[in-house]
Amino acid sequence: MKYKSQQVAYWFFALSVVLLLLQIVYGFIMAFAHLGYDGLHELIPFHAATATHKNLLVVWILSGFMGAAYYIIPDEAEKELVSVPLVKLQFWSLAIVGVVAVIGFHLNWWEGRKFLEIPRPLDYLVVVNVLLFLYIILMTLFTGKKKTTTSLVLTMGLLFAALLYLPGMVWFDNQTMDSFFRWWVVHLWVEGVWELIMGGILAYLLIKLTGVDREVIEKWLYVIVGLTFLSGVLGTGHHYYYIGTPKYWLMIGGIFSALEPLAFLGMALFAIAMYRKGEKRHPNKLALTWTLGTAILSFVGAGLLGVAHTLPAVNLWTHGTFVTAMHGHLAFWGAYGMLVLGMITYAMPLMTG
Ligand SMILES: [Fe+2]
Repeated sequence: MKYKSQQVAYWFFALSVVLLLLQIVYGFIMAFAHLGYDGLHELIPFHAATATHKNLLVVWILSGFMGAAYYIIPDEAEKELVSVPLVKLQFWSLAIVGVVAVIGFHLNWWEGRKFLEIPRPLDYLVVVNVLLFLYIILMTLFTGKKKTTTSLVLTMGLLFAALLYLPGMVWFDNQTMDSFFRWWVVHLWVEGVWELIMGGILAYLLIKLTGVDREVIEKWLYVIVGLTFLSGVLGTGHHYYYIGTPKYWLMIGGIFSALEPLAFLGMALFAIAMYRKGEKRHPNKLALTWTLGTAILSFVGAGLLGVAHTLPAVNLWTHGTFVTAMHGHLAFWGAYGMLVLGMITYAMPLMTG
């Protein structure tokens, strides 16, 4: 660890792991409820459990991304974070919003908008929190000595992820309109800009762990960014089948979302090729295993299982069924869950000695 302020990542990683464990607990509560053992129903009804489970996922992944950014940006920019007290303020406000949201779901304080259930007043707090996070990251990057491709791709991903939270906050009385823009947030996050964050973190880990030249790794990063945008943006159309939007979405969504596995295949091939090419291996083999694992499993979960039901003719029968849930689970775990755990596994020995 080159810079002292990188240490703040520890708290974000700790929060991330605590929320992951809580998410697993809520997963079990729902699994038991499905089996007929819904003993906690009075306290934790299914709708509260599912909202808690999904929102905990979003927050633990975001906390992991933020920790990763606080660790990576000083290292890449060759400069301490601009303000450690501000990072601490940002951390605690994130943790408090998370706790209030989880308690709120159990007290019926929520909105019925899948994945974005947190109520409106908390949305504003999230915006303030993320702006503070971006201020710290951008100031550090632009006053730093170096701007690498890896740090720029990571920062671009984080910036767009923050901007894309906003369409989900526009109020519509019409259900179709509301769904239309809600997918701008959810789809363009997970199948668009989060893939940039993933590409940035993956490139950083591969540079550190395989010993392959930065130039080689970063050249491939451009290819992945290109593939992600080519397929992911218009691929949003696969959420617009049969919800009341115009018919042309069947064609647009079908074609472009069928191309989406290419970005993930690109990432998997890239990681494996860099691993093969690397000569001086890092002693942290566990981190390398998680890194390769995320590249491969994201292709299986997000790429293959996604393309299996993204064509309109198949999706007509699978929309909103367990097929969607199965794909969503392995995609999230492979692409983002394992990536955060890879980053934590890499950074933890360096932060704690
Ligand atoms: Fe999607």
